[in-house]
Amino acid sequence: MHITIIGIGYVGLAAAVAFSYLDHHVVGIEKDPQKLRLLQESKSPIFEPGIEELLDKSRERLSFTNDTVGAVADSDVIMIAVGTPPKKNGEADLCYVEEAARQAAMGMVSGGTYVIVIKSTVPIGTNRRVMHIITKTLAERGVKANVHIASNPEFLRQGMALKDMLYPDRIVVGAETAEAIETLRNLYRPILEQSFAPPSSLPRPDGYSFPPLIITDLTSAEMIKYAANAFLALKISFINEIAGLCEKVGADIKEVARGIGLDPRIGPRFLQAGLGWGGSCFPKDTAALLAVAAEYGYTMPIIEAARAVNTRQRTLIVEKLQSVLKILRGRIIGILGLAFKPGTDDIRESPALDLVRILIERGAHVKVHDPVAMPKARLVLKELPVDYAADPYTLAEGCDAIILATEWETYRQLNLALLAKRMNQPVLIDGRNFFDPEQARQAGFIYMGVGR
Ligand code: UDX
Repeated sequence: MHITIIGIGYVGLAAAVAFSYLDHHVVGIEKDPQKLRLLQESKSPIFEPGIEELLDKSRERLSFTNDTVGAVADSDVIMIAVGTPPKKNGEADLCYVEEAARQAAMGMVSGGTYVIVIKSTVPIGTNRRVMHIITKTLAERGVKANVHIASNPEFLRQGMALKDMLYPDRIVVGAETAEAIETLRNLYRPILEQSFAPPSSLPRPDGYSFPPLIITDLTSAEMIKYAANAFLALKISFINEIAGLCEKVGADIKEVARGIGLDPRIGPRFLQAGLGWGGSCFPKDTAALLAVAAEYGYTMPIIEAARAVNTRQRTLIVEKLQSVLKILRGRIIGILGLAFKPGTDDIRESPALDLVRILIERGAHVKVHDPVAMPKARLVLKELPVDYAADPYTLAEGCDAIILATEWETYRQLNLALLAKRMNQPVLIDGRNFFDPEQARQAGFIYMGVGR
């Protein structure tokens, strides 16, 4: 099949490289000239395991341009994967989605059949709005094309984007015509039947079988995406709320999470207490869900509470630090990890960045280290007086405390005793319950985790 993907962000790029690896012909549309240049040289603008191999193996079937109109005419599928950034009131801004739809319609030719696939996370009702824009643009141009629409939300996680693309838990398709359903079935056939040879960097997970295809109406598909992200976000906020009480009563949240997670109705994943959730999805999508609800005069107190608990997690960590150091003004605090989670250089809505801001506001001097996210952090934090350490040991030099904010596996190899020795005071606040408390204490640390 011939696919045009408009918007080469995380989702667009993962889809582009995965579908071209699966023998489809893909043209990716990217407007940012710097990013486009990288892509045209088969280089990835993002850090994502397996992406280099897929880019390399798909070269012949994958190209990138900024010319939407030119790419669309020969496509069977036009996928919209542009951003939907939050407006001030939390509502998702649809201007890029609408512009992509207009551009797509500008490229369609009479007699052509096209399936527009919305991959961007969009508020309920957007698919119909996109269809309306396309019909109107085609009518203005006097073009008679056969256009279908499908909502195809993406559940990929950063750092696992390609694994999630090739080996998904489920594929959700919202579509209301037989042609759209059939096209999406063909698009995903290699994944549904697992008929491709797995890339060497992304082997098929043990025990993985065929993913179910969920075919539903447009609005339910849109809702599935929001409900999934909101549920995961509140699951984390729930365990964080319980963690707070564990600290008060002297229970261990890790034991509690294990004990409840073994009940299959609860499940063991997404029960890691810590600094809370960040990233490009949970904060934005929970805000967007509240904005949709408000439009309908409906309230969602559970989602509101999940967000409030998440914000509180950052301040609780700072209070914990204050309880040991008493005074924060003038202290040197080291932050290990800046990415919103390990395995990515993405710092959007990262709890670590909030910590940096809160600590500086309270008069502390902040040093930071991250194995991959420092260049991006420098751009975002450029107004703030932050020291960027070349490695964790340099970070530790002179620190009054270190906060582990992102649980990078490479930090597992750290020589904790050496780290402690370099510090002014060996205080370790483990914002992700990553280190073994006993080992940390043996290494000389005053150790505090979350909820234990
Ligand atoms: C998420 C969803 O998982 C994915 O399905 C959706 O498509 C996009 O949003 P992502 O944002 O990439 O993916 O990261 P995820 O691994 O879900 O982590 C989100 C945040 O939650 C991170 O900040 C992480 O540190 C935090 N988290 C996750 C916890 O604090 N505890 C947990 O148990 C799990």
